[in-house]
Amino acid sequence: MYINFWYPMATTAELTDQPRKVRALGQDFVVFRDSQGQARCLANTCTHRGGSLANGKIKGDCIQCPYHGWQFNGEGECQKIPSLGSKASIPGRTRIDAYPVDERYGLVFAFLGDLPEAERPPILAVKEWGQEGWRTTVQDFHLNGYYERSIENGIDPAHNEYVHDTHGFSGEREEEYKIGDMRVEENAPWGRGFWHTFQAPPLQGDLKKYRAGEGSLEAGTGYHGTNHVWTYIHPGPNFFIHQYLYERPIDEKNTHLYLVCARNFSLEEKTDAYVMERNMYVANQDVKIIEALHPMVTPEKNNKEYMVPSDQCILDYRAKQKEWAAKGWKIDMLAVAASGERAAYAIPSPARRRQKGWVLDAIPLVDPARYAEQRDDIKAVV
Ligand code: FES
Ligand SMILES: [Fe+2]
Repeated sequence: MYINFWYPMATTAELTDQPRKVRALGQDFVVFRDSQGQARCLANTCTHRGGSLANGKIKGDCIQCPYHGWQFNGEGECQKIPSLGSKASIPGRTRIDAYPVDERYGLVFAFLGDLPEAERPPILAVKEWGQEGWRTTVQDFHLNGYYERSIENGIDPAHNEYVHDTHGFSGEREEEYKIGDMRVEENAPWGRGFWHTFQAPPLQGDLKKYRAGEGSLEAGTGYHGTNHVWTYIHPGPNFFIHQYLYERPIDEKNTHLYLVCARNFSLEEKTDAYVMERNMYVANQDVKIIEALHPMVTPEKNNKEYMVPSDQCILDYRAKQKEWAAKGWKIDMLAVAASGERAAYAIPSPARRRQKGWVLDAIPLVDPARYAEQRDDIKAVV
């Protein structure tokens, strides 16, 4: 798992007037709205003696710890230490890590890392959001699996035939099933994708009017950063489904996924439920496969799996992950696990670049030099 990306922490609707505990990257965060309705995200561990802030109360612009009532504002600065009295000056070292928040597309994103604003990888844009001729739905679901496996599933053209009976023929036409050309779509520096054409079965139900019988379907997909994926499906000449998947790794065994789905057909609200039900039908087929993968976490070396040309985008994603690890963004999960319940860590926030002296240690990161030495593996392409 990696610091320095935007992670979806909740839906806009979920963030009401109560603080919310959200787990991401193996750490707990508190997400709340201040008196202006602005969403805020702080590390959940109180710097006094480890209280869980999410179990506390919102007081104006602050979150109040349930243990001894210390109050922290949305920037993580301690504003009140009741046991010192109201005149006391408050030491800067009591500060808690606070993370930039961007609420859009019906989701609350937090930037979990310490990069200054100009250097942050952007959130994958939903270009159709609010545009005439499009309608969007937002839904979320849980995966008992590792997020990288799910991202890789999203950029894998070869699984459709076998996993999705709506997109393929379940291998019944094996003699003619072959992944053809994958036309590369660049959206560097944060990701890459491809387009390809495949034969799909007839559309079902209401959708039949958009294409009669089976036909060729244009599909494009690509990753953006470590945890965002776009998938464009064009079943007919003017029949488009554009999907955006934002994933929050809870830990190495659990992921929460948020799916924003834009469509340019059946724009009435009453069709939303049907579209969302269809999305979950397909998503559950993927979930079943991903939850059973072995090992659950992606192997460190590509040669521990046998990759073929249809896996080229996955190899590209893995190479990019290693580039991010070489920047020092990869969390050292073995070191975190070794501390067990004996240490609380914080994902470093941007303020750590300006202020020295923090109570919690920054989470251990894998030494970037380890990835600088792996050039051959990074370049591996079948
Ligand atoms: S532990 Fe939070 S105020 Fe004491
Ligand atoms: Fe799939």
